[in-house]
Amino acid sequence: MSYIQPPSCPLPEYVRQALFPLPRAQWRDHDNFLTSDARALLRNHDGLKQQARQYHGAIRYLTNLSDQDRSHEDNLSLLTTLQQHLQSLLRNLHSHHGFEDSSVFPAVRLQHPRLNPAIELMEQDHAALDQLLAMLQTRSQDLPAALRLPQNLERALAEADNLERLLHGHMQNEEEILVPAYLIYR
Ligand SMILES: [Fe+2]
Ligand SMILES: [Fe+2]
Repeated sequence: MSYIQPPSCPLPEYVRQALFPLPRAQWRDHDNFLTSDARALLRNHDGLKQQARQYHGAIRYLTNLSDQDRSHEDNLSLLTTLQQHLQSLLRNLHSHHGFEDSSVFPAVRLQHPRLNPAIELMEQDHAALDQLLAMLQTRSQDLPAALRLPQNLERALAEADNLERLLHGHMQNEEEILVPAYLIYR
């Protein structure tokens, strides 16, 4: 499986030029940080990335086990926990992206037309992420039995790695686009 980049990475110069200039290092000290939507966005992103990192870590742990250890009772119960974890992660991601697509992006487009090209890229990122999430949704239905097979584990590891990269790239750019707008125009 080849690694995919979100369509917004790297953020094109014409998009970057249109962003509100407020460096990341100044976000948390900004007067409006605690009362704007910026704090919630960063916290949600951190939570989702952490959940994706935990999923990736658990798959890596299973990949590194011997076949015999993988069949041990403790590790078999880990597979069931992993299935629940993945399904919860997918639900949370769909809900986060769905809210952005239906509420956040239209409002930002209306309030800040200069951000239209940037928002378009965010929507393209969501579409690319949706493809991977759909694949993971299908996989999650076969868990935990499927992950007892080493060849499936390798594929799951590549998908988990891809998910982490996509989320990291997308969320980094989304924060650069939205957080300064939230802080300046609370
Ligand atoms: Fe997003
Ligand atoms: Fe987001």
